[in-house]
Amino acid sequence: MVEFALPRNSRVQPGRTWPARPGAKKPKTFRIYRYDPDTGENPRLDTYTVDLADCGPMVLDALIKIKTEIDSTLTFRRSCREGVCGSCAMNMGGENGLACIRAIEDVPGEAVVVYPLPHMRVIKDLVTDFRQFWAQYESIEPWLKTRTPPPERERLQTPGERERLDGLWECILCACCSTSCPSYWWNAERYLGPAVLLQAYRWIADSRDEATGERLDDLEDPYRLYRCHTIFNCTNACPKGLNPAKAIAEIKKRIAERAL
Ligand code: SF4
Ligand code: SF4
Ligand code: FES
Repeated sequence: MVEFALPRNSRVQPGRTWPARPGAKKPKTFRIYRYDPDTGENPRLDTYTVDLADCGPMVLDALIKIKTEIDSTLTFRRSCREGVCGSCAMNMGGENGLACIRAIEDVPGEAVVVYPLPHMRVIKDLVTDFRQFWAQYESIEPWLKTRTPPPERERLQTPGERERLDGLWECILCACCSTSCPSYWWNAERYLGPAVLLQAYRWIADSRDEATGERLDDLEDPYRLYRCHTIFNCTNACPKGLNPAKAIAEIKKRIAERAL
């Protein structure tokens, strides 16, 4: 039988352990992925014990507490703390999500195991490299494109037309969906992935946009769009309750309809 193994330099090693503070009333163990490219060492899993009696309820609260009180070298992104900026996306207990709105008690497993988003290049610890993701987003030209002369006031929509954007505009581009998609893992250079395709559909579905044909032309490609095999990992992963798989199916439907 063929055996697969990670390259030696990417195998995660056991790391340092910080025990609970004396007198901790509600100790909880966190195992957190650490990687510092400047050291030349393998990634490792550090173990911290946090007193939940003196900590906020979310995973991000624990990460901030660890960084502030135990180990200031721990590196992660965060900003809004409200689930609207997308910067704290990471993998917790094997599931992608936003650390600021993921309750510690909801993370499966005895310990809270925290990794960076899967299949992204790691810059440091929990911080991943989004450059390719943003380049793909830019490639779909995510802005209103019009040809008709601008009206005196804004371009209007009926309430029904506006409603068609619900479930799309709420996307915060956190990449939880794309980094849970097996097709994106294996073809990230050429497949746009669920987040960017949901964004592409957001403009295709917009009644004010006048570039639908050219947007569909751009997506009609065996890799950019058709690497989606409708497995729905993306929809299960979305922390905002959106359905990227459905948006992708809508794009495919639009392309099929125009061919009739
Ligand atoms: S439905 Fe498509 S985009 Fe979503 S996880 Fe599956 S292959 Fe990826
Ligand atoms: S669809 Fe959901 S998971 Fe994907 S980028 Fe948007 S908000 Fe994040
Ligand atoms: S800090 Fe903004 S979404 Fe978590």
